[in-house]
Amino acid sequence: TDTSHIRNFSIVAHIDHGKSTISDRILELTHTVEERDMRSQLLDTMDIEQERGITIKSNAVRVMYDADDGETYQFNLIDTPGHVDFTYEVSRSLAACEGAVLVVDATQGVEAQTVSNANLAMNANLEIVPAINKIDLPSAHPDEVREEIEEELAIPAEDAVCVSGKTGEGIHDLLESIVFLVPPPEGDARAPLKALILDSYFDEYRGVVAMVRVFDGSIKKGDRLHMMQGDEDFLVDAVAVKRPAEVPVRELAVGEVGVVVTGLKDPAAVRVGDTLTYADRPCAEALPGYREAKPMVYTGIFPIDNKEYENLRDALEKLRVNDPSLVWDPETSVALGFGFRVGFLGLLHMEVVKERLEREFGLDLIATSPSVDYHVYLTDGDMVDIRSPQDLPDPSSIDHIEEPYLKAKVIVPPEFTGAVMQLAVEHRGEMADMVYLSDKSVEMHFEIPLAELILDFFDQLKSRTKGYASLDYEFDEYRPSDLVKLDILLSGDDVDALSFIVHKDKAYPLARGLCDKLKEMIPRQQFEVPIQGAIGSKIIARSTVKAVRKDVLAKCYGGDITRKRKLLEKQKEGKKRMKSIGRVEVPQEAFLAVLKVD
Ligand code: GTP
Repeated sequence: TDTSHIRNFSIVAHIDHGKSTISDRILELTHTVEERDMRSQLLDTMDIEQERGITIKSNAVRVMYDADDGETYQFNLIDTPGHVDFTYEVSRSLAACEGAVLVVDATQGVEAQTVSNANLAMNANLEIVPAINKIDLPSAHPDEVREEIEEELAIPAEDAVCVSGKTGEGIHDLLESIVFLVPPPEGDARAPLKALILDSYFDEYRGVVAMVRVFDGSIKKGDRLHMMQGDEDFLVDAVAVKRPAEVPVRELAVGEVGVVVTGLKDPAAVRVGDTLTYADRPCAEALPGYREAKPMVYTGIFPIDNKEYENLRDALEKLRVNDPSLVWDPETSVALGFGFRVGFLGLLHMEVVKERLEREFGLDLIATSPSVDYHVYLTDGDMVDIRSPQDLPDPSSIDHIEEPYLKAKVIVPPEFTGAVMQLAVEHRGEMADMVYLSDKSVEMHFEIPLAELILDFFDQLKSRTKGYASLDYEFDEYRPSDLVKLDILLSGDDVDALSFIVHKDKAYPLARGLCDKLKEMIPRQQFEVPIQGAIGSKIIARSTVKAVRKDVLAKCYGGDITRKRKLLEKQKEGKKRMKSIGRVEVPQEAFLAVLKVD
């Protein structure tokens, strides 16, 4: 088979520069969806993705383009996740492409994420097609933007296409540029199958459906396939492409992108980055770049109302079906009762999952402070995995603790290297080296504890580099570290759900910060609430929530009963999101106070 008419690419852009609008126009212009069926942002399907403008899952849509040369081209438009929690997923989606359309707003020019996205795409060896968008606006200055692209990104931009996602102007030229600039996939149709799994989702009726890119060979219904990392076989139930609704096809040929219905019932069996091959005629080696989907951070998730425990378990089971990276174990807390210790890819992933649990399953939840997976070596020689501060054994039985370290890579313009270095040092990072990629960008490598990276590192990095930095990381090794457990006491009682494992040098400032934050967050009660931070029996910080006798009805005059009722209801509403810890009413957010400490 001939791959010369296939183009696999993704679209990358700074936020709001028009990526979704341009994708929609492409679907329209190629008659993939009729105008009357256009729903804007067709590629993002989940509610939360649409609301927050972040893509969580990868998606690939096939469009057929009748080019000016009289030939019809198959475009596979691959949408990639847009957050550092999903760097691995992004890298796998980009590995399925030969090119990337880099959208730059003609009124804004090159911005931070333009730089970081362009870097990701270039790192993946993709051919870049620059597109200058919003040229319909009077304030558009495409010529300057073209120069910026050349100077700041070192991308030749004489071919940059000027487009308007709004009016559709130039979109035709963009499609022609994709035909000319993005190379067709290379592959051997007769070789044993080699296909990359970009993503997967679960379908109640058909089991796991995998989104794949074929590198060699082809896939047909009835083929017996083998997953090289998962080491499992299945019979292909069907193959299809998304346009964007699923349309069955006879085969997924070499170079193509589409979906494979596996019939498998266990979502965890199909792994992003795994290689599919023929069971009876396997390829010699798997595609490079596979990584085990391993949770990076663990938090406790507890229902405010303990009667919801089983519902929470059901909800987690349901979510895992489309998110195999989710793992959990039951957890019991003296303060919060029964819940689960859940593993996530990062804090955004945690937030999204918590929000879905609350929204889609109507649960009221408390999430507790995030923790990484510590290796605790006991004096008797055993090692235990600790993912929750409250599970930390008594200090007298601990020989030493090891924590996970990452190798991190940051790409920034040279003027920010000092700021990045300082940030790294503040987070216990050690600079390894620094390489000039061009006079506009520097690649910095350092080693840093995962625990430091999960809290606020990424946000800080973005704000201190005005958004210009791109961050990528991978697990390196476990290293011994001087860690202690910081306990928080409310009214003298140790609240297990508020403890935190922290490096000894940071325990004092963190305890101080936590006591102050909690004082702000915990509303005044009818008695005074002392807040204390302690390591073992030693109190290292304290603050106090003053007592108040709060009579909400006092302000209401006379007998306006509806007004009174409204106030009482409002108060009740507020209470629902509180949890009683002993006699103290603590708001839901207080359990994540550690994320708010600066
Ligand atoms: P995120 O998904 O949030 O990252 O944004 P995006 O890059 O996908 O941008 P989106 O397509 O949502 O466009 C952002 C805003 O710019 C929207 O209000 C669009 O209507 C508007 N917009 C996009 N393209 C054009 C254009 O060519 N001209 C004008 N005038 N407005 C545009």
